[in-house]
Amino acid sequence: MFKFPDQVIQHFKHPQNVGELDHPDAVGTVDNPVCGDVTEIYLRINDGVIQDARFKSFGCAVTIASASVFTGKIKGNDISGLLSGSDQEIVKRLVGLIEDDLGELPAAKLHCPPATVQAFLGAVTGYYRSRPDIEIISRIERLMPLVARYYKRGERPEDSPSSQS
Ligand code: FES
Repeated sequence: MFKFPDQVIQHFKHPQNVGELDHPDAVGTVDNPVCGDVTEIYLRINDGVIQDARFKSFGCAVTIASASVFTGKIKGNDISGLLSGSDQEIVKRLVGLIEDDLGELPAAKLHCPPATVQAFLGAVTGYYRSRPDIEIISRIERLMPLVARYYKRGERPEDSPSSQS
């Protein structure tokens, strides 16, 4: 039986930012490749700043807690600020927004937080495709496989992001 950190339990019992936005500027969906749980993120974006963020999740407690924390943390942030730095730094920052808050997760649940990050990046990609901003789109295309490595952390240590940087 897993021992979840208190923060996970709190966010699971009282998730923040649940639901859809009316007429969102961006929507991203991810089917977690490890377990099939689905997370959907909705963004309101104005002048590159995330004004509002909501989510729906058909997933486990950690997935719901991850999306709850992440949507709260990205509100008010400039997308260019979230996507600044090296590719590795960006992915670490985005996953860290969740995991720094949730605490130490059981190994079998380490595949849950990256789905929220990929749903967010998918939403941002869609948003900038209609602008279009080729630089941001190509950057996110590079980030997606880096985030995907985080799904494997609970499996083989040699597949973890830190062993491939
Ligand atoms: Fe599927 Fe957590 S068990 S995302």
